[in-house]
Amino acid sequence: MAKFGNIIHSIAQSSWSEEGWVSKMGQTKRPSLETPFSKRLHLRLPLIVAPMAGVTTPEMVAHASNAGAVGSLPCAYLSPDQMTEAIAKTNLLTTRPFAVNLFLPSPVPRVSKDRIQAALEVTAPYRDEMSIEAPSLLPPFLPNFEAQFEVLLRTSPTLFSFVFGVLDREHMQACRDRGIATVGTATTLEEALELEESGVNYICLQGTEAGGHRAIFEPEQDEPGVSMKDLLESAASKLKTPLIAAGGIMTGQEIVRALKLGAQAVQMGTAFLLADEAATSKPYRDVLLNRSAGPELTRVFTGRLARGIPTRFQTEMKASPHAILPFPMQHALTRPLRAKSETIGSSQFISAWAGQNVAEIRNGFSTVSLIHELEREGLASLGLGSR
Ligand SMILES: Cc1cc2nc3c(=O)[nH]c(=O)nc-3n(C[C@H](O)[C@H](O)[C@H](O)COP(=O)(O)O)c2cc1C
Repeated sequence: MAKFGNIIHSIAQSSWSEEGWVSKMGQTKRPSLETPFSKRLHLRLPLIVAPMAGVTTPEMVAHASNAGAVGSLPCAYLSPDQMTEAIAKTNLLTTRPFAVNLFLPSPVPRVSKDRIQAALEVTAPYRDEMSIEAPSLLPPFLPNFEAQFEVLLRTSPTLFSFVFGVLDREHMQACRDRGIATVGTATTLEEALELEESGVNYICLQGTEAGGHRAIFEPEQDEPGVSMKDLLESAASKLKTPLIAAGGIMTGQEIVRALKLGAQAVQMGTAFLLADEAATSKPYRDVLLNRSAGPELTRVFTGRLARGIPTRFQTEMKASPHAILPFPMQHALTRPLRAKSETIGSSQFISAWAGQNVAEIRNGFSTVSLIHELEREGLASLGLGSR
């Protein structure tokens, strides 16, 4: 029996309103942060603490889930063994539902020797400065997706979220057979429609405000620039699949606003970057706290568009757009630079992913305390006290 047996049916039977959830039977419940998503998963708050590669640890995932939200384990850059270990660690720390997150596979880019040469030449002075060798630019650039997917099926988390496209029929069926609910990610209404067509259980709408990689299906496509609010408004009237709002949400009031616009849950990343349990490095924390500029979109770290606060590498590489390789080759090219920079405590070559509303980031908190605070803020904005 699938874990998510009747969830879509029951979700379709109700909607959020100022007065609270209204069931198809016409019964209105008191206003609350409850949604069919939070009800199904027995949550205090319809919140997913975003999977953030390099930041979200198994501890953070477990603490988020134990606090009554949903933690999400970023596994895109993990080998199958590392992924197995991270999931096992999370399972030791929580018995509550959590998500596992992967990047869908990208075709290996075909790149001319001249282009590779240009990319190596432009970045050579930086490697000299950091005393590191030029990396091998032979595939594979990322862990094997099929092997990661096998771990996913074997470990069967409650939710599987993914970015960069639509999961094919066979993989979707495998998830359904094991009762794993699927969450696809869209940056436009068109992408969301494709995800709905594929039969995903949830669609995470990632507005342009979001920090980190843009989930755009087509790696070379320009930024569509649709805000979370616009995306949610257009999708809510056209889609039947339950929606999760992501991008720029930093407070409990903003959570409630997204629910009022038709979301069943929200996914928040930037707000949690400075959590005690986050693996956010010291130089990254320094950039977040001492920002001299707002986050910008860039391809210089991985070849895919992502939003981050400009560090020296992000700023200087703007002058060399011809020397940026496609995803995920650029990721392989810059990874050693980023790693060395972080190891020596320098922010110069790190990616400092952050969303547009990073100015509202809090500092000095645990994942659990922020979740409780967001719940308090959300309830207060509905005119209710804490539970
Ligand atoms: C540091 C960082 C790393 C991220 N890594 C991932 C990831 O591995 N997988 C993913 O699906 N989304 C990733 N995201 C995007 C988040 O899932 C989410 O869409 C985004 O954080 C929402 O916008 P916000 O940062 O304004 O809250 C990342 C975001 C950040 C800030």
